Amino acid sequence: MRFERSHARRTAFVAVASSFALLATACGSGDDGSSGGGGSAAPALEGRGPITLASGKDTSGNLQNQLNAWNASHPTEKVELKELPEDANAQRQQMIQNAQAQSDAFSVLSMDVVWTSEFAANQWVTQIPEDKVPDLGKLIPATVETAKYRDKLYGVPVTSDGGLLYYRKDLLTKAGIADAPKTWDEMLAACQKVAALPEAKGMSCYAGQYEKYEGLTVNFAEAINSAGGVIVDKDGKPNVNTPEAKAGLEELVNGFKAGAIPKAAITYKEEEGRRAFQEGKLLFHRNWPYVYALANKTDGSSKVAGKFGVAPLPGKTGPGVSSLGGHDYAISSFAKNKATALDFINFMASEERQKANIEKTSQAPSWASLYDDPALTKQFPYLAPLKASILGAQPRPRVVKYGDVTAAIQAAAYDALNAKVAPDKALADLQTKLQSLITQ
Ligand code: GLC
Repeated sequence: MRFERSHARRTAFVAVASSFALLATACGSGDDGSSGGGGSAAPALEGRGPITLASGKDTSGNLQNQLNAWNASHPTEKVELKELPEDANAQRQQMIQNAQAQSDAFSVLSMDVVWTSEFAANQWVTQIPEDKVPDLGKLIPATVETAKYRDKLYGVPVTSDGGLLYYRKDLLTKAGIADAPKTWDEMLAACQKVAALPEAKGMSCYAGQYEKYEGLTVNFAEAINSAGGVIVDKDGKPNVNTPEAKAGLEELVNGFKAGAIPKAAITYKEEEGRRAFQEGKLLFHRNWPYVYALANKTDGSSKVAGKFGVAPLPGKTGPGVSSLGGHDYAISSFAKNKATALDFINFMASEERQKANIEKTSQAPSWASLYDDPALTKQFPYLAPLKASILGAQPRPRVVKYGDVTAAIQAAAYDALNAKVAPDKALADLQTKLQSLITQ
């Protein structure tokens, strides 16, 4: 393992941990406290028959099983999977092209939680009356918020997502470290200790996702939020040119410079990072919960099965802040069989289906009670840190021009990580750009 501590981290920051306390009451309340759209102006969702589901590449491996369960009980209203690329940017592009062509090829869209405003404002997806979604109050309130635009519902959360720190528990134990690190400093110190072990040869300290795509927006947002900064403030105004944001971005930039983050990680999306962790190349890895089940497979595909633990993301002065991820199922405005589409969405969001999914994969359910089910939490130890991650998570900017906003973030972050632009200049330029894009 090769890396050095790159700089002293002395500055005190406001503890980000308080967001956990603030949000701790939200889970499972079943009442999101918002006024809701009520659906008075919602269009009628009519038409029954075959439908399609457009969804990014199924890295969990269980989606078709879920669809088979629907198809078995709905022989005249079967759903066909239209599998889109793995990369969230490419999924978004295909969905938008389809909508702009007013094509009915996609009935239900597995819509990334960050696209709701853009898709709803452009009327690419239809409003869904809240009273037609019986389980809505059982879902984690923050996930339901992601599916709303101007207080109206445009999707139903089927999966949530929160970033997790995967770590090689076996090597930490061998190096005499009992607990997962809570701060970046602790993580780097743990790497230095483990580096002395023969097993650490060829390993790198840490990696998340740094390819120029949506995952970079996630990792950039997490670094900034975990240092006490924001991209946009509570009123939705850009405020990224701050010392806190700089500290967060520098953490990643210096990680690359010092070799704590391997050079190859500049090409990592979720799957490249997962494979590196599974091959034993990383001591710490930031990724989503779906990785837990795959990295624990004992069929020879993972070298780290049974050897790793899962913890909340580390931050500057305490636990870090995840970016809220996940997917809401929405109905394309151009779909034919919208009544079937709605029933299918309710089926996929049901407790029964989400429980079935958790038993096969480790994707994050949107159904709150599953995080507290004693049998499940015993069987799946990642559920506790995942619940904390999701409850403490920050949304990415909720804006109609999301495509442009995320492209600007990705460009700024990528240039900084590649040492083409200094972090403070990257943030100053990004602030100017975001101000021109976010005008409300
Ligand atoms: C995951 C998250 C999604 C995020 C994407 C980034 O799929 O659920 O919200 O945008 O990763 O790559």
